[in-house]
Amino acid sequence: MTMLQSARRAAGSAATITLSGSRLLSMGSVAGHSPMSMCAPAVPTHCIARARLAATAAPVPGSSFDMEPAVSAKEKKTEHEKETASYWGVSPTRVVKDDGTKWKWSCFRPWDAYEADVSIDLMKHHEPVTLGDKMARWTVKAMRWPTDIFFQRRYGCRAMMLETVAAVPGMVAGAVLHLRSLRRFEQSGGWIRALLEEAENERMHLMTFMEVSQPRWHERALVVAVQGVFLHAYLAAYLLSPATAHRMVGYLEEEAVHSYTEFLRDIDAGKIEDVPAPAIAIDYWRLPAGATLRDVVKVVRADEAHHRDVNHYASDIHHQGHALREIAAPIGYH
Ligand SMILES: [Fe+2]
Ligand SMILES: [Fe+2]
Repeated sequence: MTMLQSARRAAGSAATITLSGSRLLSMGSVAGHSPMSMCAPAVPTHCIARARLAATAAPVPGSSFDMEPAVSAKEKKTEHEKETASYWGVSPTRVVKDDGTKWKWSCFRPWDAYEADVSIDLMKHHEPVTLGDKMARWTVKAMRWPTDIFFQRRYGCRAMMLETVAAVPGMVAGAVLHLRSLRRFEQSGGWIRALLEEAENERMHLMTFMEVSQPRWHERALVVAVQGVFLHAYLAAYLLSPATAHRMVGYLEEEAVHSYTEFLRDIDAGKIEDVPAPAIAIDYWRLPAGATLRDVVKVVRADEAHHRDVNHYASDIHHQGHALREIAAPIGYH
């Protein structure tokens, strides 16, 4: 952990970070190869790195990419051009593992990856008590109805589309608390960061499901329309009653847990092919190299259960007459 933190601190001061140590090397960062195979003399590590850069899905072991060079001349030229453009002294941070291979993802770094807590209770449910709770529950149930009709059992597509909505509340609530903190000259109790972490985590769910399901034009149009409506509706709800808004997200996450459980059932029944996990998912959740879609759905479902708990907890804090800033936020609680 100390090493991760020092690597993160280094990100602010150096353009290139070299990661060392078995923990970072064991992040499943080479798709299709276990950490041990990275050390095996039979396959040069630079060749494996090239394989990782070339694939978006975990490659099948034994495929032919192993003999390509680590970085092509064209890629080197492009990198050089980007460096030259850095007139202002802002160089892109490059993360290099201690075997010399490049960290592939710029949308997240090794210190953002984590192992999901899949032991979380999936059956927890908050029984609505107040009128606000009942309205929140009713709203989520009402939103589920058209979703069920539109997507039916196309869970890959359904997950991808719902993640475009699920990533909105954390960002809205985080922004509202951020601005309030500035206006009132007061601490946030860590809630700004916790809510933005949730939004980022939801967006990573979307980045993952994009790899297994491509949206069609009318689905993209639907996302634009829904985002426009939902963003403003949730902002209004959060300003009027943060307790109800967090409760609604809690119920939304309960539904997400249910949907991902159905997704798993269809994979187990053979109705959905259990394809290799996207490489981005293997790195983000530190999954084993041979992980499949089923493993991905399990860790995403665990994330949703954590979001459920955080949002019901935030609503409870409000209901008990406290402001969120008075109670330390569950930062890093995925
Ligand atoms: Fe999600
Ligand atoms: Fe969620």
